Amino acid sequence: MKINDKADGNPTKGFFVRMITRDISLEDCILDLIDNSIDGAWKLEGGMPAGLSANADLSKYMIDIKIAAKQFSIVDNCGGISLRDAKDYAFTFGRKDGDDFENYSIGVYGIGMKRAVFKLGMNTTVTSTINTDSGLDAFKVVIDVKEWLTRKDVKNWDFKISSATPRTEAGVSIVVDNLTEGTATSFDDPAFQKRLRRIIARDYTIHLHYGLRIVLNGKPIVGWDIEMRSSSELMPQRTHYVDLVGNDPVSVEIVAGMAAPPPDDSADADEIDDDDAYGWYVVCNGRVVLAADKGEQSGWGTDGWPQWHGQYNGFIGLVLFTATNASLLPLTTTKRNVDVSSEVFRRARPKMRDVSRTWTAYTTLRKGDLEEAKAKEDPAAAISIFSIPANSTFVLPTLKAVPAAPKIRNTRISYAVEPKRFRELAIALGNINMSRANLGLKTFDRVYDEEVGS
Ligand SMILES: Nc1ncnc2c1ncn2[C@@H]1O[C@H](COP(=O)(O)OP(=O)(O)O)[C@@H](O)[C@H]1O
Ligand SMILES: [Mg+2]
Repeated sequence: MKINDKADGNPTKGFFVRMITRDISLEDCILDLIDNSIDGAWKLEGGMPAGLSANADLSKYMIDIKIAAKQFSIVDNCGGISLRDAKDYAFTFGRKDGDDFENYSIGVYGIGMKRAVFKLGMNTTVTSTINTDSGLDAFKVVIDVKEWLTRKDVKNWDFKISSATPRTEAGVSIVVDNLTEGTATSFDDPAFQKRLRRIIARDYTIHLHYGLRIVLNGKPIVGWDIEMRSSSELMPQRTHYVDLVGNDPVSVEIVAGMAAPPPDDSADADEIDDDDAYGWYVVCNGRVVLAADKGEQSGWGTDGWPQWHGQYNGFIGLVLFTATNASLLPLTTTKRNVDVSSEVFRRARPKMRDVSRTWTAYTTLRKGDLEEAKAKEDPAAAISIFSIPANSTFVLPTLKAVPAAPKIRNTRISYAVEPKRFRELAIALGNINMSRANLGLKTFDRVYDEEVGS
């Protein structure tokens, strides 16, 4: 039998939707939508490195988010999606080969908005208001997930674009109804809202600092202002270098310092909860993608770094990567982690390690010279990370090295004997109540003297 046929290898829509929404949290989906608004605003501002010293003013931009059990919405005034982008790109799953990357954007994989919409609910309307030669115009794209999944023509993955009433400013509005069960439950939970607010305040602190307004359920979010201690004896590091990926430059800035004095003793150290702010932060084009990391991603417990310990609390380090082409950044698709295999990140790590080492060594010395350390730390003032001057090393107070008592690691011996024989030997050694440990030591010493000599 001669067969020349083909097997259908196309993914089903259902499988595809499950896969793309599986590994992303609800919070991260919302952050993806915020990223898109920010990319819009940043593009309107001309695109520039989103570092600590960007000369940006985002105060005319606003992102208004509403979350409730019945409906989700995000509305921005960040320029909108052009009709052309909507047709060719914005609603396409994944970037096409050869697609251009916007200047200094955070979006890179071309999946964020679609993934968020599928994760959030069953009925979504994306409306884009845009400036045209004849004034404001608008169109909308309705995503009815059930209809889309069960279409007769399974190969038809398109979404219809139709006209809409423009809003008062160019921007995007995304309204999701008929929320999925998990989404509705989370949105109804005050703890979820609180957490989301905290994550936004932390992860967009750079944009918020430049004036961007993000409002969640009617309440503006205040950015988290990271501060570090500074005096003549205690200075945060702020260094910068340019790394090359092929011919493309990636700017890398490292800022690290003492955000708070370390705990006085290890007992206190263990009390501090995991949810604190200390550790390393990785920032890609202005967006925090890894926060307060005390684990392997930022190097702790690898390549000669110590494991994170409560003794190191008080340290904050940021490594900021900026590039015109977001695909050069060490970002994972969820933007909630660094791509540790990235070359730029691998080359930054030893530099981060040196900083961490300076700190860990200081915290050890400090334990032996606490009074002196505190006297030297006290005069330091807290300054915002945005106003830390360039400084090639992380300077910490000089303390005298207290020689540590030499540590002898003992070897423990344990063995079991018949109780009767134990008692007999204890009596023979002159003490019927002798503890097991003492009896063991005594007999060891006696044999040692005999065989090795005292
Ligand atoms: N709020 C928005 N403002 C302007 N453009 C947007 C907005 N949301 C989405 N877009 C457009 O849709 C595109 C696709 O978004 P997304 O699926 O998140 O992928 P990515 O951000 O990786 O490109 C964006 O690149 C952008 O062109
Ligand atoms: Mg995006």
